[in-house]
Amino acid sequence: MEIENTFTNIKVAIIGLGYVGLPLAVALAAKREVIGFDISQSKVDLINKRIDPNSELNANAFDNIALKATSEIKDIADCNFYIVGVPTPITKNKVPDLGPLKSATKSIGHVLKKGDLVVYESTVFPGCTEEVCVPILEKVSGLTYLKDFKVGYSPERINPGDKVHTLTNTIKIVSGCDQSTLEVVAKLYEEVVEAGVFRAKTIKVAEAAKIIENVQRDVNIALMNELSLIFDKMDVNTLDVIEAAATKWNFMKFYPGLVGGHCISVDPYYLTYKAIELGYYPEVILSGRKVNDKVSSNVSKKVVKHISRQGTKLSEASVLVMGVSFKENVSDFRNSKVIDLIKELESYEINVDVEDPFVDHDEIKKKEGIKLCSIRKSNYQVVILAVVHEQYKAMTEQDFKLLGDDSLLLIDIKGMLSNKIKHINHWTL
Ligand SMILES: NC(=O)c1ccc[n+]([C@@H]2O[C@H](COP(=O)([O-])OP(=O)(O)OC[C@H]3O[C@@H](n4cnc5c(N)ncnc54)[C@H](O)[C@@H]3O)[C@@H](O)[C@H]2O)c1
Repeated sequence: MEIENTFTNIKVAIIGLGYVGLPLAVALAAKREVIGFDISQSKVDLINKRIDPNSELNANAFDNIALKATSEIKDIADCNFYIVGVPTPITKNKVPDLGPLKSATKSIGHVLKKGDLVVYESTVFPGCTEEVCVPILEKVSGLTYLKDFKVGYSPERINPGDKVHTLTNTIKIVSGCDQSTLEVVAKLYEEVVEAGVFRAKTIKVAEAAKIIENVQRDVNIALMNELSLIFDKMDVNTLDVIEAAATKWNFMKFYPGLVGGHCISVDPYYLTYKAIELGYYPEVILSGRKVNDKVSSNVSKKVVKHISRQGTKLSEASVLVMGVSFKENVSDFRNSKVIDLIKELESYEINVDVEDPFVDHDEIKKKEGIKLCSIRKSNYQVVILAVVHEQYKAMTEQDFKLLGDDSLLLIDIKGMLSNKIKHINHWTL
């Protein structure tokens, strides 16, 4: 029986219950029975106790939903609609690490049956679903693509910590290996995405669309980071320049900053990897990556220069870093460029105090060797406002004044305090 004829009998399994998989599982489980599969037993246990391991969901998100989490592959054997949201990181050499994606695909291959549909949500390079995943599904299951099973691709656009742009109110791109699969995929997502779906022409188009959303952002921020380096030498404030330039109708507002996390600073390498494999060297994208990766090092040089100018020995200087997660209002510190900044400052033997109201103290100690402090001191030479968490927005100039003496340098990476600070030495990117 073909899956397109059995839409009402669809039984969904979500593979990977992280930032992408769990919100989708919860949304779909408000409408139908859903089984979530994850290799992390601790995550599965928390979810079955109705606790969101990432603290992203609303408190009542688990009310009245039909979601069961499992780490046993046999529990998803009777599903027929598999959605994959496992990580797609890069290796140390900055090439795609398809390990989790291949492994999740193998797991599905073991339970894949005639008529099943597999939809990938993980961010990949154009072609990955059909060139990498489909052969694994065929090999492990012994079934034939298009004849026995179908695939689709629907990239995720959620933005961690963002309560405005959500899964349900953001148009979702959907795609399928043929027209009828596309319609089945579209119908399922339409159940939960109130903003509706966009039917991409092919799976490759959908894969490419996701990648360029993040490439475009990365390259534009890189341009602002480069401009900020130039303007610093001219003693011109970049944010003032952007504000002035943005009065023209076609100027696009992007801001300099640290570009970390597991999307914007990672996804471009998926595209550049594929481009190079096809014989094209992507100069602009890779230059942008290089510029963005150097921002933390440029900030640490600024700190060292300031301390040295005060005549203080670096080993006797203290710096406070406020915020260490990869972006505002989230606890996720994976691939945070603030960590690079802290490590670089410590390599100069500077004493660095780090605080973050969202990040778990034990987790960051275990994974990064960073001990978060709970009490601020009053003798810092430099305070770096690295992440614009909600809690910091309420702070006044007086609050910052208490952290050091008259020579205090306040590095306000995003310029959040530009209008507030009048009497402290204040620097932004
Ligand atoms: N986080 C975001 O904001 C975001 C936004 C858009 C797209 N994406 C993309 O979505 C994908 C998932 O990202 P995420 O942030 O949800 O990752 P995550 O690390 O939060 O979650 C992934 C989950 O998959 C599980 N997992 C790993 N290997 C598995 C396997 N073989 N079988 C079953 N489960 C497995 C992990 O235990 C984890 O719980 C990535 O490709 C990412 O680039 C993420």
